Amino acid sequence: MDITFIGAGYVGLVSGIMMSHLGHNVTCIDTDQDKILALQLGMLPIYEPGLSEYLVSGLKSARLQFTSRYDQKLSSTSAIFITVGTPPLASGAADLSNIFAAIDQLRPWINQNCLIIIKSTVPPGTASQLIEYLAASNCQAQIASNPEFLREGSAVEDFLRPDRIVIGTNQLRSRHLLREIYAPLIADKIAVVSTDLQTSELIKYVSNAFLATKIAFINEMANLCEKIDADIEQVSKGVGLDSRISQKCLQAGPGFGGSCFPKDVMALSSLAQTHQVDCQIVTAVIRANQRRPADMVNKIQLILGGLNHRTLAVLGLTFKAGTDDLRSSPALEIIRLLQLQKARVIAYDPAGMTQAKQFIPGLEYASSALQACTGADALIITTEWPEFTKLDFRTIHDYLKSPIIIDLRNLLDADQLTKQGFQYHSIGRRYAL
Ligand code: UGA
Repeated sequence: MDITFIGAGYVGLVSGIMMSHLGHNVTCIDTDQDKILALQLGMLPIYEPGLSEYLVSGLKSARLQFTSRYDQKLSSTSAIFITVGTPPLASGAADLSNIFAAIDQLRPWINQNCLIIIKSTVPPGTASQLIEYLAASNCQAQIASNPEFLREGSAVEDFLRPDRIVIGTNQLRSRHLLREIYAPLIADKIAVVSTDLQTSELIKYVSNAFLATKIAFINEMANLCEKIDADIEQVSKGVGLDSRISQKCLQAGPGFGGSCFPKDVMALSSLAQTHQVDCQIVTAVIRANQRRPADMVNKIQLILGGLNHRTLAVLGLTFKAGTDDLRSSPALEIIRLLQLQKARVIAYDPAGMTQAKQFIPGLEYASSALQACTGADALIITTEWPEFTKLDFRTIHDYLKSPIIIDLRNLLDADQLTKQGFQYHSIGRRYAL
Protein backbone atom coordinates (compact mmCIF):
# COMPACT_ATOMS: atom_id res chain seq x y z
CA MET A 1 0.00 0.00 0.00
CA ASP A 2 1.19 3.58 -0.64
CA ILE A 3 1.53 5.37 2.69
CA THR A 4 2.79 8.85 3.56
CA PHE A 5 4.12 10.13 6.89
CA ILE A 6 4.01 13.85 7.63
CA GLY A 7 6.80 14.66 10.09
CA ALA A 8 10.08 12.75 10.22
CA GLY A 9 10.63 13.23 13.95
CA TYR A 10 11.07 10.31 16.29
CA VAL A 11 7.61 8.74 15.85
CA GLY A 12 7.36 9.41 12.11
CA LEU A 13 10.80 8.04 11.37
CA VAL A 14 10.50 4.86 13.37
CA SER A 15 6.97 4.13 12.14
CA GLY A 16 7.70 5.12 8.53
CA ILE A 17 10.88 3.07 8.26
CA MET A 18 9.28 0.05 9.94
CA MET A 19 6.12 0.30 7.78
CA SER A 20 8.36 -0.02 4.73
CA HIS A 21 9.81 -3.13 6.35
CA LEU A 22 6.23 -4.51 6.57
CA GLY A 23 6.08 -4.21 2.77
CA HIS A 24 4.38 -0.83 2.22
CA ASN A 25 5.63 1.90 -0.10
CA VAL A 26 6.38 4.72 2.30
CA THR A 27 7.11 8.39 1.70
CA CYS A 28 8.16 10.55 4.65
CA ILE A 29 7.69 14.29 4.27
CA ASP A 30 9.45 16.78 6.51
CA THR A 31 10.07 20.48 6.00
CA ASP A 32 13.64 20.20 7.38
CA GLN A 33 15.62 19.85 4.13
CA ASP A 34 18.94 19.01 5.81
CA LYS A 35 17.29 16.15 7.65
CA ILE A 36 15.69 14.86 4.43
CA LEU A 37 19.02 15.01 2.60
CA ALA A 38 20.73 13.02 5.35
CA LEU A 39 17.94 10.43 5.37
CA GLN A 40 18.12 10.05 1.58
CA LEU A 41 21.77 9.17 2.11
CA GLY A 42 20.87 6.61 4.78
CA MET A 43 21.91 8.73 7.78
CA LEU A 44 19.61 8.74 10.82
CA PRO A 45 19.22 12.04 12.72
CA ILE A 46 18.22 10.15 15.90
CA TYR A 47 19.93 7.49 17.99
CA GLU A 48 17.77 4.38 17.97
CA PRO A 49 19.37 0.93 18.24
CA GLY A 50 18.73 -1.27 15.19
CA LEU A 51 16.82 1.33 13.15
CA SER A 52 19.69 2.24 10.84
CA GLU A 53 19.72 -1.24 9.24
CA TYR A 54 16.00 -0.97 8.43
CA LEU A 55 16.55 2.52 6.97
CA VAL A 56 19.29 1.27 4.66
CA SER A 57 17.33 -1.78 3.53
CA GLY A 58 14.19 0.34 2.98
CA LEU A 59 16.15 2.73 0.75
CA LYS A 60 17.74 -0.18 -1.14
CA SER A 61 14.38 -1.82 -1.78
CA ALA A 62 13.05 1.56 -3.06
CA ARG A 63 10.04 1.11 -0.76
CA LEU A 64 11.19 4.07 1.36
CA GLN A 65 11.47 7.67 0.20
CA PHE A 66 12.12 11.00 1.87
CA THR A 67 11.10 14.40 0.57
CA SER A 68 10.35 17.92 1.75
CA ARG A 69 7.74 18.50 -1.00
CA TYR A 70 3.96 18.29 -0.72
CA ASP A 71 2.90 17.55 -4.30
CA GLN A 72 0.64 15.70 -6.74
CA LYS A 73 1.92 12.30 -5.56
CA LEU A 74 -0.12 12.77 -2.40
CA SER A 75 -3.37 12.41 -4.36
CA SER A 76 -2.63 8.73 -5.01
CA THR A 77 -1.60 7.80 -1.48
CA SER A 78 -4.11 5.59 0.41
CA ALA A 79 -3.22 6.66 3.93
CA ILE A 80 -1.43 9.66 5.43
CA PHE A 81 -0.07 9.38 8.97
CA ILE A 82 0.35 12.67 10.82
CA THR A 83 3.38 12.34 13.09
CA VAL A 84 4.24 15.94 13.91
CA GLY A 85 5.06 17.15 17.44
CA THR A 86 2.40 18.34 19.92
CA PRO A 87 4.55 20.17 22.49
CA PRO A 88 3.03 21.59 25.68
CA LEU A 89 1.67 25.14 25.81
CA ALA A 90 2.32 27.25 28.91
CA SER A 91 -1.02 25.98 30.29
CA GLY A 92 0.12 22.35 29.97
CA ALA A 93 -2.38 21.69 27.16
CA ALA A 94 -1.07 20.18 23.91
CA ASP A 95 -0.19 22.66 21.16
CA LEU A 96 -1.98 21.43 18.03
CA SER A 97 -0.65 24.08 15.65
CA ASN A 98 1.71 21.63 13.89
CA ILE A 99 -1.24 19.28 13.24
CA PHE A 100 -3.39 22.02 11.71
CA ALA A 101 -0.43 23.31 9.67
CA ALA A 102 0.12 19.80 8.27
CA ILE A 103 -3.58 19.47 7.37
CA ASP A 104 -3.46 22.86 5.63
CA GLN A 105 -0.47 21.76 3.56
CA LEU A 106 -2.16 18.49 2.63
CA ARG A 107 -5.59 19.86 1.80
CA PRO A 108 -4.91 20.90 -1.84
CA TRP A 109 -3.72 17.38 -2.73
CA ILE A 110 -6.10 14.99 -1.02
CA ASN A 111 -9.48 13.57 -2.02
CA GLN A 112 -12.34 11.81 -0.21
CA ASN A 113 -10.72 8.39 -0.59
CA CYS A 114 -7.74 9.42 1.46
CA LEU A 115 -7.52 8.40 5.12
CA ILE A 116 -5.64 10.78 7.40
CA ILE A 117 -4.44 8.98 10.52
CA ILE A 118 -3.43 10.98 13.58
CA LYS A 119 -0.51 9.21 15.24
CA SER A 120 0.74 12.23 17.18
CA THR A 121 -0.46 12.33 20.79
CA VAL A 122 -3.53 14.60 20.78
CA PRO A 123 -6.31 15.36 23.28
CA PRO A 124 -9.60 13.52 22.83
CA GLY A 125 -11.80 15.42 20.43
CA THR A 126 -8.98 16.47 18.10
CA ALA A 127 -9.87 14.03 15.30
CA SER A 128 -13.53 15.15 15.39
CA GLN A 129 -12.34 18.77 15.34
CA LEU A 130 -10.24 18.01 12.25
CA ILE A 131 -13.17 16.35 10.47
CA GLU A 132 -15.18 19.56 10.96
CA TYR A 133 -12.19 21.68 9.94
CA LEU A 134 -11.82 19.77 6.65
CA ALA A 135 -15.57 19.69 6.00
CA ALA A 136 -15.69 23.50 6.37
CA SER A 137 -13.49 23.73 3.26
CA ASN A 138 -15.41 20.99 1.39
CA CYS A 139 -12.68 18.42 1.90
CA GLN A 140 -14.24 15.02 2.61
CA ALA A 141 -11.07 13.09 3.54
CA GLN A 142 -11.54 10.70 6.46
CA ILE A 143 -9.76 10.98 9.81
CA ALA A 144 -8.69 8.15 12.12
CA SER A 145 -6.72 7.88 15.34
CA ASN A 146 -3.88 5.40 15.83
CA PRO A 147 -1.74 6.32 18.84
CA GLU A 148 1.74 4.89 19.14
CA PHE A 149 3.33 3.22 22.16
CA LEU A 150 6.98 3.01 21.10
CA ARG A 151 9.66 3.53 23.73
CA GLU A 152 12.86 5.30 22.80
CA GLY A 153 15.74 2.85 22.85
CA SER A 154 13.57 -0.19 22.08
CA ALA A 155 11.35 1.26 19.38
CA VAL A 156 12.17 -1.32 16.68
CA GLU A 157 11.21 -4.21 18.94
CA ASP A 158 8.15 -2.29 20.20
CA PHE A 159 7.01 -1.69 16.61
CA LEU A 160 7.40 -5.32 15.57
CA ARG A 161 5.95 -6.81 18.77
CA PRO A 162 3.60 -4.24 20.34
CA ASP A 163 1.35 -5.22 23.26
CA ARG A 164 -1.58 -3.92 21.21
CA ILE A 165 -2.56 -1.78 18.24
CA VAL A 166 -5.22 0.85 18.97
CA ILE A 167 -7.43 1.94 16.09
CA GLY A 168 -9.99 4.74 16.48
CA THR A 169 -12.38 5.33 13.59
CA ASN A 170 -15.85 6.61 12.82
CA GLN A 171 -16.26 4.56 9.62
CA LEU A 172 -15.97 0.88 8.81
CA ARG A 173 -13.92 1.62 5.70
CA SER A 174 -11.28 3.47 7.74
CA ARG A 175 -11.11 0.60 10.23
CA HIS A 176 -10.59 -1.94 7.42
CA LEU A 177 -7.86 0.16 5.85
CA LEU A 178 -5.98 0.45 9.15
CA ARG A 179 -6.28 -3.31 9.72
CA GLU A 180 -4.87 -3.82 6.22
CA ILE A 181 -1.91 -1.57 7.00
CA TYR A 182 -1.14 -3.58 10.15
CA ALA A 183 -2.05 -6.95 8.57
CA PRO A 184 1.45 -8.51 8.98
CA LEU A 185 1.41 -7.72 12.73
CA ILE A 186 -2.22 -8.79 13.16
CA ALA A 187 -1.31 -12.09 11.48
CA ASP A 188 1.32 -12.45 14.24
CA LYS A 189 -1.55 -12.41 16.76
CA ILE A 190 -0.98 -8.86 18.02
CA ALA A 191 -4.14 -7.68 19.82
CA VAL A 192 -6.15 -4.91 18.18
CA VAL A 193 -8.42 -2.53 20.08
CA SER A 194 -10.89 -1.06 17.61
CA THR A 195 -12.84 1.81 19.04
CA ASP A 196 -14.18 5.31 18.40
CA LEU A 197 -12.02 8.37 17.82
CA GLN A 198 -12.17 9.97 21.30
CA THR A 199 -11.61 6.70 23.15
CA SER A 200 -8.58 5.90 21.04
CA GLU A 201 -7.12 9.35 21.70
CA LEU A 202 -7.73 8.98 25.44
CA ILE A 203 -6.14 5.50 25.62
CA LYS A 204 -2.79 7.05 24.80
CA TYR A 205 -2.97 9.64 27.61
CA VAL A 206 -4.29 7.15 30.14
CA SER A 207 -1.53 4.65 29.30
CA ASN A 208 1.27 7.18 29.77
CA ALA A 209 -0.31 8.73 32.86
CA PHE A 210 -0.83 5.31 34.47
CA LEU A 211 2.79 4.27 33.85
CA ALA A 212 3.98 7.64 35.19
CA THR A 213 1.80 7.08 38.26
CA LYS A 214 3.49 3.73 38.92
CA ILE A 215 6.91 5.39 38.77
CA ALA A 216 5.93 8.34 40.98
CA PHE A 217 4.39 5.89 43.46
CA ILE A 218 7.41 3.59 43.67
CA ASN A 219 9.66 6.64 44.11
CA GLU A 220 7.58 7.70 47.13
CA MET A 221 7.80 4.17 48.51
CA ALA A 222 11.59 4.37 48.04
CA ASN A 223 11.60 7.45 50.30
CA LEU A 224 9.71 5.45 52.89
CA CYS A 225 12.10 2.49 52.56
CA GLU A 226 15.02 4.77 53.40
CA LYS A 227 13.34 5.77 56.67
CA ILE A 228 12.34 2.31 57.85
CA ASP A 229 15.39 0.37 56.62
CA ALA A 230 13.54 -1.62 53.94
CA ASP A 231 14.80 -2.38 50.42
CA ILE A 232 12.87 -0.87 47.48
CA GLU A 233 14.37 -3.35 44.99
CA GLN A 234 12.87 -6.24 46.95
CA VAL A 235 9.62 -4.33 47.43
CA SER A 236 9.34 -3.76 43.65
CA LYS A 237 10.04 -7.41 42.98
CA GLY A 238 7.64 -8.68 45.63
CA VAL A 239 4.89 -6.35 44.46
CA GLY A 240 5.55 -6.64 40.72
CA LEU A 241 5.34 -10.43 40.71
CA ASP A 242 1.61 -9.96 41.25
CA SER A 243 0.51 -10.25 37.61
CA ARG A 244 -2.18 -7.61 38.22
CA ILE A 245 0.61 -5.11 38.96
CA SER A 246 3.58 -6.36 36.82
CA GLN A 247 7.26 -5.54 37.23
CA LYS A 248 7.25 -2.82 34.57
CA CYS A 249 7.69 0.83 35.58
CA LEU A 250 8.48 -0.10 39.17
CA GLN A 251 12.14 0.88 39.07
CA ALA A 252 12.76 3.67 41.58
CA GLY A 253 15.02 6.46 40.37
CA PRO A 254 15.48 10.22 40.02
CA GLY A 255 12.01 10.73 38.49
CA PHE A 256 10.50 10.18 35.06
CA GLY A 257 11.57 12.35 32.15
CA GLY A 258 11.58 12.33 28.36
CA SER A 259 9.39 13.96 25.77
CA CYS A 260 6.25 12.00 26.68
CA PHE A 261 5.41 11.21 30.32
CA PRO A 262 5.88 14.73 31.75
CA LYS A 263 4.08 16.34 28.78
CA ASP A 264 1.23 13.83 28.66
CA VAL A 265 0.38 13.90 32.39
CA MET A 266 0.26 17.70 32.15
CA ALA A 267 -2.00 17.53 29.09
CA LEU A 268 -4.29 15.00 30.81
CA SER A 269 -4.51 17.25 33.86
CA SER A 270 -5.31 20.23 31.64
CA LEU A 271 -8.01 18.20 29.83
CA ALA A 272 -9.56 17.22 33.17
CA GLN A 273 -9.57 20.84 34.33
CA THR A 274 -11.23 21.97 31.09
CA HIS A 275 -14.03 19.50 31.77
CA GLN A 276 -14.11 20.30 35.51
CA VAL A 277 -13.19 16.78 36.52
CA ASP A 278 -11.13 16.64 39.70
CA CYS A 279 -8.26 14.25 38.78
CA GLN A 280 -6.33 14.44 42.05
CA ILE A 281 -4.07 11.48 41.33
CA VAL A 282 -2.81 13.02 38.10
CA THR A 283 -2.12 16.30 39.90
CA ALA A 284 -0.25 14.48 42.67
CA VAL A 285 1.89 12.59 40.13
CA ILE A 286 2.94 15.86 38.48
CA ARG A 287 3.82 17.41 41.83
CA ALA A 288 5.69 14.34 43.12
CA ASN A 289 7.78 14.08 39.97
CA GLN A 290 8.57 17.78 39.82
CA ARG A 291 10.11 17.72 43.30
CA ARG A 292 12.09 14.53 42.70
CA PRO A 293 15.31 16.18 41.36
CA ALA A 294 15.38 18.54 44.37
CA ASP A 295 14.94 15.53 46.69
CA MET A 296 17.89 13.87 44.95
CA VAL A 297 20.04 16.96 45.44
CA ASN A 298 19.10 17.12 49.13
CA LYS A 299 20.11 13.50 49.46
CA ILE A 300 23.50 14.21 47.83
CA GLN A 301 23.99 17.24 50.05
CA LEU A 302 23.24 15.25 53.21
CA ILE A 303 25.65 12.48 52.23
CA LEU A 304 28.46 14.89 51.40
CA GLY A 305 27.74 17.29 54.27
CA GLY A 306 27.36 20.24 51.88
CA LEU A 307 27.84 21.02 48.20
CA ASN A 308 29.70 24.30 48.17
CA HIS A 309 32.89 23.87 46.04
CA ARG A 310 32.54 20.10 45.97
CA THR A 311 33.55 18.49 42.69
CA LEU A 312 31.04 15.90 41.48
CA ALA A 313 31.43 13.40 38.65
CA VAL A 314 27.94 12.99 37.18
CA LEU A 315 27.55 9.95 34.94
CA GLY A 316 24.47 10.16 32.70
CA LEU A 317 22.71 13.07 31.03
CA THR A 318 19.99 11.46 28.90
CA PHE A 319 16.51 10.88 30.39
CA LYS A 320 17.13 7.13 30.28
CA ALA A 321 19.66 4.75 28.76
CA GLY A 322 19.65 3.78 25.07
CA THR A 323 18.84 7.24 23.70
CA ASP A 324 20.56 10.58 23.07
CA ASP A 325 17.40 12.43 24.11
CA LEU A 326 17.76 14.97 26.91
CA ARG A 327 14.24 16.37 26.93
CA SER A 328 12.97 16.75 30.53
CA SER A 329 15.90 14.65 31.70
CA PRO A 330 16.03 14.51 35.52
CA ALA A 331 19.84 14.42 35.20
CA LEU A 332 19.89 17.94 33.73
CA GLU A 333 17.67 19.35 36.46
CA ILE A 334 19.82 17.67 39.12
CA ILE A 335 22.96 19.21 37.58
CA ARG A 336 21.31 22.65 37.44
CA LEU A 337 20.38 22.42 41.13
CA LEU A 338 23.84 21.16 42.10
CA GLN A 339 25.43 24.08 40.27
CA LEU A 340 23.03 26.50 41.99
CA GLN A 341 24.46 25.26 45.26
CA LYS A 342 27.97 26.01 43.96
CA ALA A 343 29.04 22.44 43.29
CA ARG A 344 31.45 21.91 40.39
CA VAL A 345 29.95 19.27 38.06
CA ILE A 346 31.96 17.23 35.56
CA ALA A 347 29.60 15.24 33.37
CA TYR A 348 29.95 12.24 31.12
CA ASP A 349 27.35 10.47 28.97
CA PRO A 350 27.93 7.87 26.24
CA ALA A 351 25.38 9.43 23.83
CA GLY A 352 24.03 12.74 25.08
CA MET A 353 27.01 15.08 25.36
CA THR A 354 26.71 16.79 21.97
CA GLN A 355 23.05 17.63 22.58
CA ALA A 356 23.68 18.60 26.21
CA LYS A 357 25.78 21.56 25.11
CA GLN A 358 22.58 23.32 23.99
CA PHE A 359 20.79 22.57 27.26
CA ILE A 360 23.45 23.51 29.84
CA PRO A 361 25.98 25.87 28.30
CA GLY A 362 29.21 26.03 30.25
CA LEU A 363 28.92 22.57 31.82
CA GLU A 364 32.27 20.76 32.05
CA TYR A 365 32.41 17.49 30.14
CA ALA A 366 34.82 14.60 30.48
CA SER A 367 35.80 12.35 27.60
CA SER A 368 35.29 9.22 29.71
CA ALA A 369 33.73 8.16 33.00
CA LEU A 370 37.20 7.68 34.44
CA GLN A 371 38.24 11.19 33.49
CA ALA A 372 35.08 12.61 35.11
CA CYS A 373 35.98 10.83 38.35
CA THR A 374 39.56 12.09 38.52
CA GLY A 375 39.85 14.20 41.68
CA ALA A 376 36.09 14.27 42.30
CA ASP A 377 34.56 14.24 45.79
CA ALA A 378 31.91 11.73 44.71
CA LEU A 379 30.59 9.79 41.74
CA ILE A 380 26.87 10.18 41.00
CA ILE A 381 24.96 7.89 38.64
CA THR A 382 21.99 9.66 37.04
CA THR A 383 21.25 7.48 33.98
CA GLU A 384 21.21 3.68 33.92
CA TRP A 385 23.63 3.12 31.01
CA PRO A 386 24.64 -0.58 31.16
CA GLU A 387 28.26 0.33 30.36
CA PHE A 388 28.53 2.07 33.75
CA THR A 389 28.25 -1.37 35.37
CA LYS A 390 31.40 -2.44 33.50
CA LEU A 391 33.63 0.43 34.63
CA ASP A 392 36.96 -0.34 36.25
CA PHE A 393 35.94 0.53 39.81
CA ARG A 394 39.32 -0.37 41.30
CA THR A 395 40.91 2.41 39.25
CA ILE A 396 37.98 4.74 39.94
CA HIS A 397 38.52 4.13 43.67
CA ASP A 398 42.08 5.40 43.29
CA TYR A 399 41.10 8.37 41.10
CA LEU A 400 38.28 9.74 43.29
CA LYS A 401 39.29 12.12 46.07
CA SER A 402 36.92 10.24 48.40
CA PRO A 403 35.48 6.84 47.43
CA ILE A 404 31.80 7.81 47.54
CA ILE A 405 29.25 6.57 45.01
CA ILE A 406 25.68 7.87 44.97
CA ASP A 407 23.71 5.67 42.59
CA LEU A 408 20.36 7.34 41.79
CA ARG A 409 19.34 4.43 39.52
CA ASN A 410 20.27 1.46 41.75
CA LEU A 411 22.34 0.28 38.82
CA LEU A 412 25.55 -0.93 40.43
CA ASP A 413 26.41 -3.96 42.54
CA ALA A 414 26.21 -2.68 46.11
CA ASP A 415 27.96 -5.66 47.75
CA GLN A 416 30.88 -5.69 45.35
CA LEU A 417 31.47 -1.96 45.61
CA THR A 418 31.32 -2.03 49.39
CA LYS A 419 33.88 -4.86 49.39
CA GLN A 420 36.08 -2.69 47.17
CA GLY A 421 36.07 0.00 49.85
CA PHE A 422 33.44 2.38 48.46
CA GLN A 423 30.86 4.16 50.55
CA TYR A 424 27.91 3.22 48.35
CA HIS A 425 24.55 5.01 48.53
CA SER A 426 21.47 4.20 46.50
CA ILE A 427 17.73 4.87 46.28
CA GLY A 428 15.27 3.31 48.72
CA ARG A 429 17.77 1.17 50.55
CA ARG A 430 19.79 1.51 53.72
CA TYR A 431 21.51 4.89 53.89
CA ALA A 432 24.97 3.53 53.12
CA LEU A 433 25.76 -0.10 52.40
C1 UGA B 1 7.02 6.38 26.92
C2 UGA B 1 6.11 5.14 26.94
O1 UGA B 1 6.74 4.11 27.69
C3 UGA B 1 5.81 4.64 25.53
O2 UGA B 1 4.90 3.55 25.57
C4 UGA B 1 5.19 5.79 24.71
O3 UGA B 1 4.98 5.42 23.35
C5 UGA B 1 6.14 6.99 24.72
O4 UGA B 1 6.40 7.38 26.09
C6 UGA B 1 5.45 8.10 23.96
O5 UGA B 1 4.41 8.58 24.44
O6 UGA B 1 5.88 8.41 22.83
P1 UGA B 1 9.66 6.75 26.60
O7 UGA B 1 9.39 8.20 26.89
O8 UGA B 1 10.54 6.38 25.46
O9 UGA B 1 8.26 5.98 26.35
O10 UGA B 1 10.34 6.15 27.91
P2 UGA B 1 10.08 5.10 29.06
O11 UGA B 1 10.98 3.95 28.84
O12 UGA B 1 8.66 4.80 29.26
O13 UGA B 1 10.65 5.93 30.30
C7 UGA B 1 10.11 7.20 30.64
C8 UGA B 1 10.78 7.74 31.89
O14 UGA B 1 10.43 6.97 33.04
C9 UGA B 1 12.31 7.70 31.85
O15 UGA B 1 12.83 8.87 32.43
C10 UGA B 1 12.68 6.49 32.68
O16 UGA B 1 13.95 6.55 33.26
C11 UGA B 1 11.60 6.54 33.74
N1 UGA B 1 11.32 5.22 34.34
C12 UGA B 1 10.81 4.22 33.59
C13 UGA B 1 11.56 5.03 35.69
O17 UGA B 1 12.04 5.93 36.41
N2 UGA B 1 11.28 3.81 36.24
C14 UGA B 1 10.76 2.80 35.50
O18 UGA B 1 10.51 1.70 36.09
C15 UGA B 1 10.51 2.99 34.15
